[in-house]
Amino acid sequence: MGKVIVEMSISLDGFIARPDGRTDEVHAWYNMGDVEVKMPNNDLTFKVDPVSAEIVKESFQLGANVTGRHTFDDAEAWGGDDPMGIPSFIVTHEVPKEWTGKDSPFTFVTDGVASAVAQAKKAAGDKPVGVAGADIAQQCIQLGLLDEIQLHLAPVLLGEGIRLFDDLGKAPIELEQIKVVKAPHVTHLFFRVIK
Ligand SMILES: NC(=O)c1ccc[n+]([C@@H]2O[C@H](COP(=O)([O-])OP(=O)(O)OC[C@H]3O[C@@H](n4cnc5c(N)ncnc54)[C@H](OP(=O)(O)O)[C@@H]3O)[C@@H](O)[C@H]2O)c1
Repeated sequence: MGKVIVEMSISLDGFIARPDGRTDEVHAWYNMGDVEVKMPNNDLTFKVDPVSAEIVKESFQLGANVTGRHTFDDAEAWGGDDPMGIPSFIVTHEVPKEWTGKDSPFTFVTDGVASAVAQAKKAAGDKPVGVAGADIAQQCIQLGLLDEIQLHLAPVLLGEGIRLFDDLGKAPIELEQIKVVKAPHVTHLFFRVIK
């Protein structure tokens, strides 16, 4: 089965979004270059530097996504489909009525993160599973489900907002540094979780 990866843009002081959920500053690097990279399954096109373009394309290799309900709501369901066009599992306490039809591209999981990751792994086969949302990422860490952490470190101090590593449960958690890629407006950091 494929590995489980969290991949997010983050401020130097550890926030993935402002308190209101906006990600303008941490995601600014997606629009600061000349190389166009189109999302596989929607009209969004990034404009990044050549080094980051390769990193972004690599991130499209996932086989399934697990996302928290807050991220799903903030992204307004990505306009109606998973942005990568892959199986998409949304962890929530309450299934939104507007997405319950049999043609819904989303699977809502109400029995916890472990169940969502297990379903996503099955759907992804040998490909990696991506997890998104700080709350979901933290639960994956607490449950020992996370294999890799990929961070796009933005040169900004937000001061407040949604922290990626707020509640880790049992810490310290040891990481192995796999790769560091310096780009003009962002530094890409790759870690393996040592289990
Ligand atoms: N910087 C980046 O790269 C990046 C990437 C992704 C997201 N984001 C941002 O991150 C923010 C969201 O992160 P977040 O940590 O606040 O939220 P989240 O992880 O996206 O979602 C948390 C929500 O998921 C549901 N949930 C979590 N655990 C559950 C469980 N065990 N069982 C059932 N439901 C469960 C709950 O929603 P309900 O109770 O409502 O069901 C909970 O409030 C957004 O603002 C988004 O824009 C940033």
